[in-house]
Amino acid sequence: MRQFLLSVMALTLFGLSACSQNKNKEELKMNDKETKKTLIVYFSATGTTAEAAKRLAKTANADLYEIQPEKPYTDADLNWNDEKSRSSVEMNDPKSRPAIKGKLENAAQYDTIYVGFPIRWYTAPTIINTFVEQTDLKGKTLITFATSGGSTVAKASRDLKAAYPELRWKEGGLAQWPFTGRGREIGGKNEINDSFR
Ligand SMILES: Cc1cc2nc3c(=O)[nH]c(=O)nc-3n(C[C@H](O)[C@H](O)[C@H](O)COP(=O)(O)O)c2cc1C
Repeated sequence: MRQFLLSVMALTLFGLSACSQNKNKEELKMNDKETKKTLIVYFSATGTTAEAAKRLAKTANADLYEIQPEKPYTDADLNWNDEKSRSSVEMNDPKSRPAIKGKLENAAQYDTIYVGFPIRWYTAPTIINTFVEQTDLKGKTLITFATSGGSTVAKASRDLKAAYPELRWKEGGLAQWPFTGRGREIGGKNEINDSFR
């Protein structure tokens, strides 16, 4: 009888421990999902994209990271009528990689990263290439968004996809806030606008 009771107790304890191990596994799985967060990365020279990025981060409950140029852009740097201005020179040279202050160190904890920028000459500024090339973005979903005077984010997304085909790019949209004029027309239904709703 004593032997029988000991066996029952052992079986019960085994059952309980297996059950709690399974529960721990479930909890781990859930925690894994919870810790995979969304990040909004942005570059902004004059504040428009910064404003959009901050609103998006709030709405999407995401973290925010600013790509800061080592040397900030002055008004003269941004003069597109001057072919010798810094932005003209950079955008005329597909190999230009303006230096960034600091580095995004914790990319590993994000599985979705929104990448936002002002459109320059219909595409993304080359400082975005600097960011992409110095960050490990493999396996992440990268959603492009932009602010502009009217151009869409389509060419920028195509160009990034062509330059980095090993990365998983998704086209987001224009993110002017509030959506006005062409921004609203172009915005349409896409991930970025849905995130803003
Ligand atoms: C050098 C330069 C080139 C630009 N090229 C375009 C363009 O091709 N198409 C467009 O719609 N807007 C263009 N813009 C306007 C910017 O995309 C727009 O003002 C943007 O919202 C600025 O964002 P930021 O304040 O975050 O820097 C250009 C601006 C600059 C300074």
